[in-house]
Amino acid sequence: MNLEQKLEDLQKRNTAAEAGGGPERRARQHKEGKLSARERIQFLLDEGTFEETDRFVTHRCTDFGMEAQKLPGDGFVTGYGRIEGRLVFVFAQDFTVFGGSLSEANASKIVKIMDMAMRVGAPLIGLNDSGGARIQEGVMSLAGYADIFVRNTLASGVIPQISAIMGPCAGGAVYSPAITDYIFMVDKTSYMFVTGPDVIKTVTHEEVTKDQLGGAATHNETSGVAHFLAHDDAECLSMIRELIGFLPSNNLDDPPRRATSDPADRADAELDSAIPAASNQPYDIKDVIARVVDDGYFFEVQEMYARNIVVGFARMNGRSVGVVANQPAFLAGVLDINASDKGARFVRFCDAFNIPLITFEDVPGFLPGTQQEYGGIIRHGAKLLFAFAEATVPKLTVITRKAYGGAYCVMSSKHIRTDVNYAWPTAEIAVMGPEGAVNIVYKRELDRAAQMGKTEAERAAILERERGKKIEEFRERFANPYVAAERGYIDAVIRPRETRKKLIDALEMLDSKRDKNPPKKHGNIPL
Ligand code: HXC
Repeated sequence: MNLEQKLEDLQKRNTAAEAGGGPERRARQHKEGKLSARERIQFLLDEGTFEETDRFVTHRCTDFGMEAQKLPGDGFVTGYGRIEGRLVFVFAQDFTVFGGSLSEANASKIVKIMDMAMRVGAPLIGLNDSGGARIQEGVMSLAGYADIFVRNTLASGVIPQISAIMGPCAGGAVYSPAITDYIFMVDKTSYMFVTGPDVIKTVTHEEVTKDQLGGAATHNETSGVAHFLAHDDAECLSMIRELIGFLPSNNLDDPPRRATSDPADRADAELDSAIPAASNQPYDIKDVIARVVDDGYFFEVQEMYARNIVVGFARMNGRSVGVVANQPAFLAGVLDINASDKGARFVRFCDAFNIPLITFEDVPGFLPGTQQEYGGIIRHGAKLLFAFAEATVPKLTVITRKAYGGAYCVMSSKHIRTDVNYAWPTAEIAVMGPEGAVNIVYKRELDRAAQMGKTEAERAAILERERGKKIEEFRERFANPYVAAERGYIDAVIRPRETRKKLIDALEMLDSKRDKNPPKKHGNIPL
């Protein structure tokens, strides 16, 4: 063959590799509202930046007549490219080739780019659309999964790892995403489950649809396995680009900075009236966050799960920050098992990737009750405490209203190495709220006073009056930020309107912060 013929031959091979499982299967993919693996990669990356690796790799299986069904690339598209000019590694599973199933050969393609991503320190993005282990390959496919799992684990905390679930993902196809940092799901076309509805029906006689069992809503609202819900492939891929914009490429880098026209010293008078007059009245902490951060833009993580705590990314004077906030508008912002898990995971992610943490605190305490205690609220709540205490990134806290009990300690208090702690004048910092405290501390005194009444009604009235007085006394003495400020647990009591400026100044001051934990193999977070 001369060069021209060789180039023609290469062209033919390229065309075959790009054809995937053929036009019929591709048409089915499109009909279901899904993009193809290559279209997804094109959409994800900056135009013209994709460099493909291993497009001619084929499987080596000879059972079940597989030797006659070899396709170049073996159903996975792998390589690297750029997002806003920054290097990322990417793989996309092509459902049109054996249902995107994982073989020994295509697992090795993923392993190759994972190793490269680790060597050069760049994020890894997986676009998953896979029926799991390729059944025809048996244990070789399982081995391929395990090769990926161990790399996911070693890469955890070194490079950001992001998974998009863009089709049915069953069996092994869910465990690699589960180890990664963030899971995106596409509503109505993606599913995640360890075992599907048919197996469940056989084993437990439970009838459940794919969507109910492992759809995007289920994993975003109920299980907390997923972090983001997109309405179609395009939205999912744009959201991934956006997330990448907040993150450093690896644990040794700082997050990228972005120019902003939002003044660093912008005051917001509306914040002065953000807290309702009555202490038990709700307000939306996301309104407060939006008024403080650059351009009012907050990229929320796990928006639909454990809504009593809010976590997500924002920028302060162009710098990425992780925001953790109690949400008084949902369950009064109480900390429960799910909120603790959600908060802890986010705090640890930010700490691993040099993203400063800003905590907005308005928390009445941990949720009481048998359901929570039996579910292990002690262990789960301890995760959040552990995560905040071990974090060495710059940490800032603003107490807007309640900071009661153990939750005061947990929510990035001064005592667990938070650098700058502010409180609004509306803050109430105490062991518990006035009502609860009075019922315990003055119980006998109140009972004695009530005995002075001659009738049942008189006794009730005295009790109510005396109780009210004590509550007021307690509120005056303790439900404010000044007892904590007298001790230096609060660095300053600030006007709400100046919160943005104060936080940005503090972040600047902390720019050169260095802190480390004692040398150890790793801590033992109460999982
Ligand atoms: C080989 C597979 C496959 C698989 C699907 N296909 N899954 N081929 N191995 N695991 C093929 C089908 O034969 C079919 O080929 C094509 O992909 C499309 O599949 P359909 O069933 O037609 O698609 P759909 O109706 O959309 O259903 C998708 C599905 C279903 C829900 C994913 O295919 C399914 O249940 N697959 C099996 C899932 C599973 O149990 N996987 C193994 C898990 S065990 P044709 O030629 O007809 O187009 C595992 C262990 C790892 O992963 C554990 C590690 C911890």
